[in-house]
Amino acid sequence: MCGIVGYTGPREAYPIILKGLKRLEYRGYDSSGVALLNHDLKVYKKKGRVSELEEDVIGKDLHAFTGIGHTRWATHGEPSDRNAHPHRSASGRLAMIHNGIIENYASIKQELVNKGYTFHSDTDTEVLLNFIEDIQQNNNSTLEEALRIALKRVVGAYCILLLDKEDPETIIAARKGSPLVIGIGKGEHFLASDASPIIEYTKEVVYVNDYEIAIIKPDELILKNLGNEKQTPFIQKLDMELAKIEKGGYDHFMLKEIHEQPETIHDCLRGRLNIENGTITMGGVESHLETLTNANRIIMVACGTSWHAGLIAEYIFEELCRIPVEVEYASEFRYRNPVINKGDVIIAISQSGETADTLVALENAKEKGACIFGVVNAVGSSIARLSHAGAYTHAGPEIGVASTKAFTGQLAVLTMMALKIAKAKGTIDDTRYSKLLQELNDIPEKVKLVLQDTSNIEAIAEKYKDAADFLYLGRGYNFPVALEGALKLKEISYIHAEGYPAAEMKHGPIALVDDKLPVVFVATKDSYYEKIVSNVQEIKARKGMVIAVATEGDTIIPGMADDVMLVPDADEILAPLLSVIPLQLLSYYIGVAKGLDVDKPRNLAKSVTVE
Ligand code: G6P
Repeated sequence: MCGIVGYTGPREAYPIILKGLKRLEYRGYDSSGVALLNHDLKVYKKKGRVSELEEDVIGKDLHAFTGIGHTRWATHGEPSDRNAHPHRSASGRLAMIHNGIIENYASIKQELVNKGYTFHSDTDTEVLLNFIEDIQQNNNSTLEEALRIALKRVVGAYCILLLDKEDPETIIAARKGSPLVIGIGKGEHFLASDASPIIEYTKEVVYVNDYEIAIIKPDELILKNLGNEKQTPFIQKLDMELAKIEKGGYDHFMLKEIHEQPETIHDCLRGRLNIENGTITMGGVESHLETLTNANRIIMVACGTSWHAGLIAEYIFEELCRIPVEVEYASEFRYRNPVINKGDVIIAISQSGETADTLVALENAKEKGACIFGVVNAVGSSIARLSHAGAYTHAGPEIGVASTKAFTGQLAVLTMMALKIAKAKGTIDDTRYSKLLQELNDIPEKVKLVLQDTSNIEAIAEKYKDAADFLYLGRGYNFPVALEGALKLKEISYIHAEGYPAAEMKHGPIALVDDKLPVVFVATKDSYYEKIVSNVQEIKARKGMVIAVATEGDTIIPGMADDVMLVPDADEILAPLLSVIPLQLLSYYIGVAKGLDVDKPRNLAKSVTVE
C-alpha cells in the first residue's frame, strides 16, 4: 500500500513522477503529492486521486531535476491534504515520503513533543521525519548518519525517500518490509515501489533489500547496510513490457486482465507442460523434489484471493499427492505459535510478493526451519527472494485491484506442482496423469470459449445489480470458487456477499433466503453434482433466485436456475479455472452497471504492505 516514485537526473522530474504515480495508483489512492527540489524545496499535495493533484498544480512552479512523489493508502490519519505525503521537517529543510507503518511512532512522537516539536499531520511519517532531523541537528551529523541512527530505533515497516534542500541532486532511500526498485539510466536514476514507472526509461534495475540505505545521485548509486558497510548493488534486467501495463483498448484493467487469461494461463504452462513426453518441467520443484515428495504436511500461507487459490490447491494436493494440507491466513499464522515440524513445507501464494502478513509469516517459518516454496507473480519481489525455491505464475503485471488473472495463474502453477509431485511419489496412475496433463493443456482454449460472448453475463449483471445481498455456494473444488466469487462481488460492487459450502448453507445462511436473495451456485458437473442439484432445489423451494455456473450440455441445473452462465466441461480438478471466469465477469459488470470505479474500489489497495 502506498506507491512511491523518485527521480534524479537531467530531465524534468515532475512529469516522470506524475506518470509513475498514475502507474502506482493501484497501491492506494487516498491522496497524492510531490516534493520537487531545485534550490527551493516545493511540496504539493492533495486529497484524492493523482488526477486531482495534477489539476491542483496547474500554473505552479514545477521545475526541478530531482523529486519524489507518493500515492497514499491511509493508515495513520484520515485521507486529507494535511495527512498527504510528502511531509516537511520542522525546519523545512527535509521532505519525506513513506510506505509502511512505524509502530512505535507514539513514543517517539511524545519524546519530540517534550522537546517542543509540533506536528502538522496525524501521520507516523512526520514523526519519523522529525526524529531524523532532530538526530541530525543534535549530533551535528549527516542526514545519512541521522537516518541510520533513527532507523535502528524504529519498529515497523518502511520504504522512505528523503530529500534535503542542502543537497539538491540526492535522494536518500531506505527500506524494511516495503518494496523499492531503483532503475539505472545513463546519468539518471528512477525509484519506485515496483518496476512499472521505470520500464519505459531503463530495463536495468536494483531491488533494494531490507535494512539497506541507498544514496542516489544522477550518476551514482551507493548501497549500504545499517552498519554503514557498502553493499554491491545486484543489477537485474527487467522482463516486462510497457504494453502489458496499459489498458490496450479495454475500458478497465480488470476487464483486460480477465480477457488476458487464455494467454496468461498459456504463458504459465508454456515451457513447463509437455504433452508429447508427458513431463512437467519446473526448476524450483525439481531442485526440492525430495523435500516436496517426502513432506509430512504442506501449509499454504496467503491472503485474499491468493488464499482462495490455496484452498483449491488443498483439495488438489490431498487428492493427487496424498499429503495433508493446511491453508492459513498469513495474518493469523504469523501471530499464533504454529507447530512447524521438520518435513513441513510452506507454500506461499502471492500475486504481489509483497503482502506484509505473508512476508512476515514466511520469515517466521523460515527461522523455524521450514522449507519455503513461493508461488508468486511479481518477479524479483520480496516473497520470491525470501523463498528457498518457487515457481512464478507468469501472469504479467496485474493492475486492477481485484485479482483475476493472477488467481488462475496460481491455480495453474499449483496444479502442475501437484501433478509433478504425485507422479514422483507414485500417487497418481499413468492414465489419470496423462488425462490431466492433456486437459490442463486444453484449459486456455476453454477459457477463450467462456470469454467469447459475455453478453449473457452482462444481462444477468444488469438484472441483479440492485440486490442488497448475494449468497455464493459451491461444493468440493468449487467451494473456494464460491468464496472467490463472493469476494470479487464485495470488492467491486460493494454488495454484501457471502460464500459458503453448499451443504453447510443449511446450518445458518438458509435463513437469509427469500425471493429477493440471488444465490449463485457454482455447480459444474463433478463428483458432487447430484448433491448440489439437491441444494439448488432447497433454495428454489424457499423462493430464492438461482444464478448457476453450469457445464455446457447440462440440462438439469439450467432447468432449475433462473439464470445460467455456462462453461465447458473439464475434469473436476481443473473446473475452478473455468468456473471462476463468469464470476469475475459478473462482479465486473455489476460494478460497471453501478457506475463504480472497478479498477480502484474504495478503501482497497492492491499491494497490502502493512499488516
Ligand atoms: C489485496 C488485494 C487482493 C489480493 C490480496 C493478497 O487484498 O486487493 O486482490 O488477493 O491483497 O495479495 P497478494 O499480492 O499477496 O496475492
